[in-house]
Formats: sequence, C-alpha cells, structure tokens
Amino acid sequence: MTTWTPHSWRKLPIQQQPQYRDQQLLTQTEQQLHKYPPLVFAQETRDLFSQLGQVAEGNGFLLQGGDCAESFNDFNAPKIRDTFKVLMQMAVVLTFAGGLPVVKVARMAGQYAKPRSSDLETINGVSLPSYRGDIVNSFEFTAEAREPDPARLVTAYHHSAATLNLLRAFAQGGLADLHQVARWNMGFVESNPLKERYMSVANRIQEALRFMEICGITAQNSPSIRETQLFTSHEALLLNYEEALTRRDTLTGKWYDCSAHMVWIGERTRQLDHAHIEFFRGIHNPVGVKVGPGMQEDDLIRLIDALNPDNTAGRLTLITRMGADKLADKLPALVRRVKQEGRKVVWSSDPMHGNTVKASNDYKTRDFEAILREIRNFFAVHKAEGTHAGGIHLEMTGEHVTECTGGAYGLSESDLSSRYFTQCDPRLNADQVLELAFLIADTLSAARK
Ligand code: PEP
Ligand code: CO
Repeated sequence: MTTWTPHSWRKLPIQQQPQYRDQQLLTQTEQQLHKYPPLVFAQETRDLFSQLGQVAEGNGFLLQGGDCAESFNDFNAPKIRDTFKVLMQMAVVLTFAGGLPVVKVARMAGQYAKPRSSDLETINGVSLPSYRGDIVNSFEFTAEAREPDPARLVTAYHHSAATLNLLRAFAQGGLADLHQVARWNMGFVESNPLKERYMSVANRIQEALRFMEICGITAQNSPSIRETQLFTSHEALLLNYEEALTRRDTLTGKWYDCSAHMVWIGERTRQLDHAHIEFFRGIHNPVGVKVGPGMQEDDLIRLIDALNPDNTAGRLTLITRMGADKLADKLPALVRRVKQEGRKVVWSSDPMHGNTVKASNDYKTRDFEAILREIRNFFAVHKAEGTHAGGIHLEMTGEHVTECTGGAYGLSESDLSSRYFTQCDPRLNADQVLELAFLIADTLSAARK
C-alpha cells in the first residue's frame, strides 16, 4: 500500500464526479477552499468517534437524519429550525421510550452532492447532464443550469458554515432545553393522531425534571439538561471539496476531514480499488459506508479492513439499505460473518434507499409501510444474531411535505402532488418521523428486554 496523502486518491479511478469545463477555475477554487477555516474542530470529531464507539459496544443508538439533498434556494432559518426540532423530538422519544443514549448526527450543513444512476437526463428527446446536487449544478432543466460550476463549491462551503452556526446556536443556546420539550409541539403535534402519546412522554419528562430539581440537579448546574450535542454529516462524494477541507490536527498530528464530523461513502462509490476508499482510509473521522443488497460476505470483510484496519470501535458505521424484503434475506449472513470475524462496527439501517418506487402518477415515492418493515426486519435480524441494532439513517424534513405515502394520516399517491418539494429523493415529513420514532422506540425497548 502506498503512502496516504490528502490527494493520493487523485491517482485512482473515480466514479460520479462532475466534468468541469473550466479546469483552471476549478483549481483556483480548490486552492481558495484550502485556505478557508475548517468547518468543524477535530476534538468534536473525536468526541463523536468515542460516542459511536459506545454505540458499537451496544451502549447507545445512532440517529442520523436530514435532507436527501440540501438546496441553495431553500436556505433559510425556519427550514433548519424545523428539521432540528424534528431530530430532537425523535431523539427524546428514542431516549425516553427506547431507554438508550442517542447520538444525534444531522444530514445537514454539507449534504449537497448527489450520486446519480445516469450521467444524462432526457426529457422530450432533449438530453442534459443530470442534476448532481447544488454543489455541482442547478436543478432547472436547461443547458446552462446543468453545467457544472466550480464556484458552487465555495457557495456550498458558506451555506454549510451558516447552517452549522445556527445548529450550534440551537443546540447550545436553549432551544434543545428539555424543559422546552412540551413546548416543541409544533403545529403538527397539535393535530397528530399520536399527540396523546407524545404529550405523555413530554409530561413524564417534565415530572422527572421536577424530581431532579428537588434533588439539586438543575439546568444551571447540569448543562446536559439545557444543551445538546448535534453532529453533522454528509456523503463525501466530491473528493476535491473534501480534500480542500482536510487538515492536520495540531494536537495529534492526524488528518481530519473538517467539512463535517462524520462522512460516508455511498453505495455507488465504494469500490475497493477506487478513489473514495483511498481518501477515506487516511482521514481519522468516524466514517460510514452504505451496504446494498448485492454485498457479498468476503467483500464486506475486505471493505471493513480497508476502512478500519485497527478494528477500532466507533470508526466504522455500516449503513444497510437493502429494501424491506431483501434485507431479511441478505442481512443475516453478513451480520453473522462480521460477528464471527470479530469486527467492531455500528450497524445502522437506512430504510429509505432500498424502498424507492415510482407511483402510478410517475412521482418517485416511498411507502411508509415498506420503510417500517425494513426497520422491523433490521431489528429482528440483529435480535436473532445477538448483535446490536445500532442506529437509523433517515431522509426527512421538518416541513409538511407529501413525498412518502402512508403513515397515520394515510397519504395516498394522489396526495403526492400537493406538497412534493424534494429535488432528489422523497423524504419523510415531520408527522411520519414522529410516528416512526414511537414505533422504533417500542422495537428498541422490546429488543433490550
Ligand atoms: C443517499 O444517502 O442519499 C444515497 C444516495 O444513498 P445510497 O448511496 O445508499 O444510494
Ligand atoms: Co437520497
């Protein structure tokens, strides 16, 4: 194996990268980003690493969620706030009803690059480059909009910085104070069929807080009541962007990708001898890798060893995304083999990407029932194999979108058109996420009995 550097990936084959016309502008932009401040601090990243180490040992649960793709157009405070609230609400339900500490990782502040199944998109006989996320090109179907633009790398950096700034303010500035839980009943909880259940959890938390206060544990002397820790993550698809934000930590001398606390490799770019694995092997962040239904046992072990040769708990999260039925069929052998070989990983379930279907009216959608079934199967497999179902990875938003069918409100295919805003994959809306949180909490607490 050759020596690793932040740019050693450039010698290897790579998939899913945009073809820029102006190479000089691209190089200039990369150099500019190299000089910009890192977005996260290595010590925070190490903190997430050790918390994920606890999850790998069965002592915690990873909640990772956010947009499929963040967008420059939809860049505003209410949107960030609402997604933050839904994540926190879900975390509270999981912690309280599931009985485990929850590690919260947002798919935000950098989730701008998208892998695509085809390089070109064709509409009415016209073919243009596919939309690859706002960090690359624009969603509109015109030749100009679809042209990859290096300047977007810098825009994505600034949008990520501003998003992260607000997330930190929310996490530490009082919005996540447990006393506020009952007040988080945004409009949707008001009319939600699960309102009673949510309010009962909220009331029990208030009771516990009152009891703790009597015992002298208050928001003033115990920051964990008033503040929370929310980490950031995205698919590190554009390696030139990631390289530019990769810095050597002055405390430890180790390299960290400082574009986010955690980064993951997508299902389409995890070839062992390709650029993404090369880049990831040298950074010291906790990393994730997507695992689809085609994964073979031997290949999985090789992949684990490439990314986590020292077998350190917390370094690697395997995010399975197989589809509800395929998962029940394929996951047991993989889990058994990893356990047999003593590899320490966090197993997390992405119940979204294996369950994407086309509705009869052509909308790309996902059915709530299928999503739930994949999660249930995921828990059932881990229970049967004696391993820890360690986390969940969701595409979700705090907005009232109608992109996934089903759920307590029974969204149908004909409802999809009313509030279908995603530029990429269909997301769960706030109601559906809360519903899912209760169902997962039940499964989690049953699995621990
Ligand atoms: C995603 O997480 O948005 C994604 C593209 O996933 P996958 O790599 O699993 O297809
Ligand atoms: Co997606």
